[in-house]
Amino acid sequence: MAGIPQNLLPLGDFLPSDKWQTHVNAIFYGTLGSGIHDHFQTYVSRDYRLAYSLAEEFYRQAIAKEEKSKTLFVLEWGVGNGNLASSFLDRLKEVDEENIIYPRIKYVLCDFSPEILKAVINNPRLQTHQGRFAAIRVDAESMKCFKPSSVFKIISNEIWDDLACKALLLDEGLIYEEYLQPFLDPAQIPIDWEEFLSLFNQKNLDRLRELPLFLGAIQWERNYQRIDISDWPHAKEIQSHLDQLTDENPIPINIGAFETLQTAFNLLAESNLGYTSMDYGMLSVEDVREMGRPYFNLYGGQYTFMVNFPLMESVGKAVGFNGTFKQYQHYFVESQLKNPVISVLELLQSHPKVAMMEPWERDVLMLQTLNAFNGIYKSPYKNEINYPPMPGSPKKFVKKMEALSEKLDPYGIPDTVAYLTQAEIVSAEKKLRKLGYKENRMRSAFINFAQPVSFVYSRFEK
Ligand SMILES: C[S@@+](CC[C@H](N)C(=O)[O-])C[C@H]1O[C@@H](n2cnc3c(N)ncnc32)[C@H](O)[C@@H]1O
Repeated sequence: MAGIPQNLLPLGDFLPSDKWQTHVNAIFYGTLGSGIHDHFQTYVSRDYRLAYSLAEEFYRQAIAKEEKSKTLFVLEWGVGNGNLASSFLDRLKEVDEENIIYPRIKYVLCDFSPEILKAVINNPRLQTHQGRFAAIRVDAESMKCFKPSSVFKIISNEIWDDLACKALLLDEGLIYEEYLQPFLDPAQIPIDWEEFLSLFNQKNLDRLRELPLFLGAIQWERNYQRIDISDWPHAKEIQSHLDQLTDENPIPINIGAFETLQTAFNLLAESNLGYTSMDYGMLSVEDVREMGRPYFNLYGGQYTFMVNFPLMESVGKAVGFNGTFKQYQHYFVESQLKNPVISVLELLQSHPKVAMMEPWERDVLMLQTLNAFNGIYKSPYKNEINYPPMPGSPKKFVKKMEALSEKLDPYGIPDTVAYLTQAEIVSAEKKLRKLGYKENRMRSAFINFAQPVSFVYSRFEK
């Protein structure tokens, strides 16, 4: 317990990582609702390009199948603000000029959080698709409410990293499991500590929602305990995976995501377009082996694990899927747009001075970069990027940011993680060079995004 300051108290005992991870995530989603995007953005929460790519691929594959069913059920699991659904349906309607596919779609948005679903059904962009969508409360790990063999397509983005995950460590041929224990400073909590502990342990969302945000202040203590995995689900696949690895690199075992593969396999109809899931994690066994690569992340208290895609592939095979197709998500979007892509953030990271900049200088550079694409980048949607200055930013920079924010094109780049094409970057090159960007470094950004932990597109075919 050396790392935990004395004023912090435990919220419970040491438990296997998946137990505490799913516990805090249920509180995170159950109390924040659409406020989750104040803590993180995804490639679909504001940007439309990944969703459009999925819709175009779906349309092509659906047409090629010559599917005759009257209703085509598309399930999305873990839906966030509903923008993936709305962009997907917008694009599908657009490309389906002969009305062959879109009018038969029933897009079902599935999430375990009532708060999330409340916001989703009021998402203004979804309203143009009345009759084509429904939202239901269901846990992605046990979708018992759907008829087996009835679904045409399943999609999820950034849900696997939230689902139950264990972490294993190898040491001289022995296997150890990671255990976690949460600690919090009672001064963060304005009610009696014992009462709070009982609300926290029972996941009393209604009462916890009334408290100031506390999940982000939790400190986690870790230890490793010797384990025999022979009675774990998919022990055979896990063991053969471990046999390919070296010691001392924690390995995520995404057991909740395994469940979704089994569920998807059961739900997909005889004629189907498979299960497509996108997330961040390790694409190959070499990436899993890479020393020092991260294996978990915390966003405002949400506890996520990197997805171990090579292990997912083996489990998919064991479950019965015929094949898995996986690639970097950037390459998937590139193949639909017929032009290489990187995110605005990746462009910013290629700036030669960015690593030396103060946070507020980086914010100004981000806004200048977004402005450099005014008139070049044309979004089909009207957006307002809310880019508030960080607390502590000097007045001069706050003023500069306000002035730059006002200049942003309402039909410009929707988000700081939005995809930009190489063609758009080339068109903005003169303005970008004036901001200090260098051509060779921008070019390298189209290769450097491929890291041991990257965004990955995977499709499981039945
Ligand atoms: C990281 S957010 C991603 C949201 C959205 N797909 C996106 O990419 O913007 C994860 C979503 O999965 C939902 N979720 C997490 N665990 C779930 C579970 N066990 N069953 C159903 N939904 C879950 C959360 O409520 C949230 O909407």
